Amino acid sequence: MSRSIVLALALILALGLAVFWVLSTPRPLTVADIPQHTPNLANGEVLYHAGGCISCHQPSPDLAGIENTVPAGGAPLHTPVGTLYPMNLTPDPETGIGKWTDLQFLNAVQRGISPEGENLIPALPYTSYAHMKPEDVLDIRAYLASLPPVKSPEREPDITALPLVRRGVGLWKWVGLDTTPWTPDPSQSESWNRGSYLVNGPGHCQECHTPRNIFMARNASKAFAGGPHPEGKGRVPSLLGLIERGRYTDAADLASALANGEALGYDKLASGGMGQVQRNISQLPEGDIQAIADYIASLK
Ligand code: HEC
Ligand code: HEC
Repeated sequence: MSRSIVLALALILALGLAVFWVLSTPRPLTVADIPQHTPNLANGEVLYHAGGCISCHQPSPDLAGIENTVPAGGAPLHTPVGTLYPMNLTPDPETGIGKWTDLQFLNAVQRGISPEGENLIPALPYTSYAHMKPEDVLDIRAYLASLPPVKSPEREPDITALPLVRRGVGLWKWVGLDTTPWTPDPSQSESWNRGSYLVNGPGHCQECHTPRNIFMARNASKAFAGGPHPEGKGRVPSLLGLIERGRYTDAADLASALANGEALGYDKLASGGMGQVQRNISQLPEGDIQAIADYIASLK
């Protein structure tokens, strides 16, 4: 090869790397994005359950004497890219999030960016949490800060070429992360709108119930249509036409199913992570469970 061709190739490679570097760089929220807000612990607790934080941030089995309702982190979460150990969300200053600023918390939960400025793996469903009201996210933080601190050291994910994967996630965010805030539909009832918010924001129901396109981004044209399970095993059912198909008699029946799960004789509410989702929903106020059901029952 002539020297000029080698030089040209090296230049193209360098340019490609530079473009990759720029496009994969995290784009965080700034102090100006933090709303003026007085934290509301009760609201934070509701949103914490709606967000299902405990499903993934379970205490590691090595932590003796810690109840599995405490989000001390460290339990394995298996994903197609490898195993992650979602971290300690209790206010322990050394191993938890006790020393975090509000901005760091908002950036992790709503933009998928760690305090170290790295992209987080979207196994943390920030792609849904991004649509939440930041005030609600700050309330979750306030609720977490009110829990007893637990020492539970962070464990690195078992993922090959992790730093490269994190950069790759930055590139993926251009197609996979939509940060548009949720807005109400004025033609619908208050309950439907509350349900729409809970389902599409904190509840992250679409992360499993909406199939993905070739870029592993949610396929908006097939919202809630079900498909292969994103964790790699089995399928997730469609949530479209649940009443019309006779899965539930009406929205009240669906609300009862979500509140009580298979214990009350309903089926298809336990496997593939849905059991944990159902247990989290059952912690919500009755009105919120009905709101989720009203919204889901309207999906055609
Ligand atoms: C479906 C699983 C899942 C759910 C649900 C979930 N997380 Fe996570 N979370 C993760 C994973 C996995 C990571 C680590 C991602 C990584 O290392 O790239 C993480 C990381 C985090 C981090 C960053 C910690 C750090 O040290 O960088 C915070 C903060 C966090 N989650 C808060 C929450 C909150 C608050 C909720 C509920 C509203 C929540 N998570 C729900 C899986 C989940
Ligand atoms: C972690 C993935 C996951 C998430 C997140 C998730 N689901 Fe599911 N869902 C499933 C799976 C898997 C099933 C099937 C379970 C079975 O067959 O035992 C299911 C089943 C259901 C069913 C029963 C469908 C039928 O045909 O009767 C309903 C209703 C439902 N989910 C609602 C929701 C709602 C509402 C949310 C959000 C609050 C949600 N799901 C979030 C995975 C998920």
